[in-house]
Amino acid sequence: MEYRISDRMAALKPSAIREILKNTANPNVIPFAAGNPSPDAFPVKEISKISSIVLENSAVAALQYSVSEGYAPLRTAVDNFCEAQEPGLKDNDLDDTLIVTGGQQGIDLTAKCLLNEGDIVICEDPSFIGALNTFRSYNVKLMGVPLESDGISIEGVEAILKEYPRTKLIYLIPNFQNPGGCTMSLAKRKAVYELAKKYGAIILEDNPYGALRYENEHIPAIKTLDTTGNVVYCASFSKIISPGFRVGYLVARKELMQKLVVAKQCSDVHTPMLTQMISQQFLSTCNIDAHISSMIRLYRTKRDLMCSMIDTYFGDKITYVRPEGGLFVWCTMPCGSDMIGFVKAALEKNVAVVPGNAFCADPSAQSFSFRMNFSTPTATQITDGMEILGDVLKNFVK
Ligand SMILES: Cc1ncc(COP(=O)(O)O)c(C=O)c1O
Repeated sequence: MEYRISDRMAALKPSAIREILKNTANPNVIPFAAGNPSPDAFPVKEISKISSIVLENSAVAALQYSVSEGYAPLRTAVDNFCEAQEPGLKDNDLDDTLIVTGGQQGIDLTAKCLLNEGDIVICEDPSFIGALNTFRSYNVKLMGVPLESDGISIEGVEAILKEYPRTKLIYLIPNFQNPGGCTMSLAKRKAVYELAKKYGAIILEDNPYGALRYENEHIPAIKTLDTTGNVVYCASFSKIISPGFRVGYLVARKELMQKLVVAKQCSDVHTPMLTQMISQQFLSTCNIDAHISSMIRLYRTKRDLMCSMIDTYFGDKITYVRPEGGLFVWCTMPCGSDMIGFVKAALEKNVAVVPGNAFCADPSAQSFSFRMNFSTPTATQITDGMEILGDVLKNFVK
């Protein structure tokens, strides 16, 4: 059978990270490539207890079909969580909250509702591969704008908006960007919002890592500045409760939300009730702040260890972004280095990192960077893996 694949999917390749992860199923491989929460971070006891309670008390609701907007008590718990994390994020008169099947679905539904073939989407370059592939699947024109140490280049965004004033979407990860590790300054958040307003573009603000800040002051979400409905906010509990639950949320203006709900009905009808109900119980009865604080302590230690190992074993052979939060360190080899050769040689020595070009708006663009994750590996794996990478690096950077 010759399958006639749709134009929207024909050019899409499997995610480079997923492909690398296939090679890393081997337990001997040190996992710096994934973006998984630490196995030590899951609140297993609490979830086990809550799961029994949910099934004992509300089995039918947990196992039955439900409404697309999401389990009502979870939507309330999400609103309370958002208000604590990002005061003023939701305007209760104008905005609504939709429970989605992971932040990934929030990105997809937003794209589905807003994007036509050929539309312009501005993104940070580099950016989250899952979002880039989603946009690509809608046959849009992705325009990458360089990421600077304090977030996307505002001049770069403005130049594209001037050239393409009908740009539809600006996709941003303002906190602890994946993969770049940097955080957007308040001045840039304000500037990009003003540009979106001026040109009638929607900002999709993706904030899965916002709760995981290890140092410095919180910077308010762009959505908290939004008085005009130009911002759709997307987040999830993947990094702070469980990615396997697939529970995330969107906050957007009610007019747009009506369409997002219809798009969700076409996609999966609703997010699984069992994990919605467990998430709601977790948010309402466990001390989520204490849980996040313990994750922060765990990850801050791992980040510090990875950064000090970079200093020890990479020396001045590379530059890197020390992230204020999140899960990733972004390293850059000198211009002209054989980054791909380095990544392959590292994998031969059983250390997996992700080549930077996987995250480029134009995947054929040259990149001298690679991404490392510090939440998944153990402290010993970080120390051993960095020593191995340091040795491999000597063959690629003199
Ligand atoms: C920036 C970014 N957005 C969205 C997601 C999707 O997260 P979820 O597991 O909630 O679908 C991820 C996952 O790694 C991510 O890094």
